[in-house]
Amino acid sequence: MTDLSGRKAFVTGASGGIGAAICARLQADGATVWALDARPATGEQIGTFVEIDVKDAQGLSRVVRQVIEDAGGADILVTSAGVVEDDVPAEELGADLYDHVMGVNLRGVFLTCQAFGRTMLEQGSGSIVNIASMSGNATVNFPQRQAIYNASKAGVSALTRSLAVEWGPRGVRVNALSPGYIDTPLNHLKAHQHQTWKDRTPLGRFGTVEEVAAAVSYLSGPEAGFYAGAELLMDGGYSLW
Ligand SMILES: NC(=O)c1ccc[n+]([C@@H]2O[C@H](COP(=O)([O-])OP(=O)(O)OC[C@H]3O[C@@H](n4cnc5c(N)ncnc54)[C@H](O)[C@@H]3O)[C@@H](O)[C@H]2O)c1
Repeated sequence: MTDLSGRKAFVTGASGGIGAAICARLQADGATVWALDARPATGEQIGTFVEIDVKDAQGLSRVVRQVIEDAGGADILVTSAGVVEDDVPAEELGADLYDHVMGVNLRGVFLTCQAFGRTMLEQGSGSIVNIASMSGNATVNFPQRQAIYNASKAGVSALTRSLAVEWGPRGVRVNALSPGYIDTPLNHLKAHQHQTWKDRTPLGRFGTVEEVAAAVSYLSGPEAGFYAGAELLMDGGYSLW
């Protein structure tokens, strides 16, 4: 167990499969958790729910300022809010869908890191974990076509490294965790592809949300204190092919 006692942790995408598990794990490891999402949890709500739209720069900045003031600071941020296009051939993909996927996955991560990062920089301490994806390496996805998701996640990885360089000297660590296939609502539309994904994974299964959450907790905490700009890949070996 990572000891996160006394830490104030904020998780976006907190009502989703991976985000909810991260909230539960950070809380179990001792953190006080704020659960940020566009919609409330359908199951048990872990932590204090705060409604946000990560694409809305002004609204996000206002809400984050207020929630940090109420909390009295911010120690950990995990950005897990994300969306994926269904299997869409790149030549047919419309600009609106492009804006939506890039807006949540890359613009949203940037705006959220910025909104929390300002306070962490003032404090001189903080730890950010961005949920990227093995899909940032676009060639590994099969059989679905999801060009914009892949590009957005490559952007999250690159953004993570840039923020780590800018903010590391001022006490803020920024890292990424890149999962392979995890069974969550994000993938439910693609149920007919699940067996293909498992067959192409050397470990022969999906990862669990608990496995992702354990790695996020570690990366966010003091034992991972020398990680900066790192990307932990957790994909059961999928991208080794
Ligand atoms: N499930 C996987 O196989 C997998 C693999 C690699 C990476 N990821 C990444 O993990 C993260 C979490 O995915 P998940 O599997 O839990 O998906 P999910 O669909 O279960 O959860 C995503 C959450 O993001 C929230 N969200 C969407 N748009 C938002 C917005 N504009 N503002 C605020 N919240 C918004 C949704 O309400 C939802 O609760 C995503 O970034 C995803 O890309 C997932």
